[in-house]
Amino acid sequence: MPQVLDSIKVGAERIIEIVKSLRNFSRLDEAEYKEAHIHEGIDGTLVILNHRLKANGKNPAIQVIKEYSPLPLVTCYPGQLNQVFMNILSNAVDALEEYNQKRTKEEIKQNPSQIKVYTQKIEDNWIKIGIQDNAGGIPEKLTSKLFDPFFTTKPVGKGTGLGLSISYQIIIEKHGGRLFCNSKLGEGTEFIIEIPIRP
Ligand SMILES: Nc1ncnc2c1ncn2[C@@H]1O[C@H](COP(=O)(O)OP(=O)(O)O)[C@@H](O)[C@H]1O
Ligand SMILES: [Mg+2]
Repeated sequence: MPQVLDSIKVGAERIIEIVKSLRNFSRLDEAEYKEAHIHEGIDGTLVILNHRLKANGKNPAIQVIKEYSPLPLVTCYPGQLNQVFMNILSNAVDALEEYNQKRTKEEIKQNPSQIKVYTQKIEDNWIKIGIQDNAGGIPEKLTSKLFDPFFTTKPVGKGTGLGLSISYQIIIEKHGGRLFCNSKLGEGTEFIIEIPIRP
């Protein structure tokens, strides 16, 4: 009985956490231009994605490593930035799942799937958010197409090819920021978001 009650309590706490994150993620006032905590946005997105990070019958667990530096409040559209975090993190999970299909259990154990998220204040008025995975990387000939609308390498029904082009619009046009991708075949991919702290 005490064990059952314990798991009910843990379950209820997780539900609270997920509902809170979903509300935060989609809240109407998050559509406004305002000062926001970047780390809260990333953490909330990771909570919503948690079911894809845990091991399940088909996929091994993906370890998330956070390396956060102290950041000031950033004037931004928090709801839109969350959408960018979601697009880039989901792509990393997709890439890791696809990569693991081609790896043996032994190879996965030697080099477990991971996503690293780091933040830094750079220059006076800028912050940087990096999202790295250790999946298969992107062939060089494709890197110039990544941000094109409808560019996808995923099967019909899975990819729309819109995630990165929408992210590009949000970062460059809505926030006056910068968005880059560094990728090395066989090593992994990193997306770097840079945005001004104040417009
Ligand atoms: N982390 C990543 N690792 C490998 N390939 C990636 C990664 N992120 C994006 N891509 C490539 O960029 C393409 C476009 O991504 P996106 O615009 O989000 O569309 P979608 O995810 O619907 O395919 C993906 O189909 C994939 O080929
Ligand atoms: Mg995508």
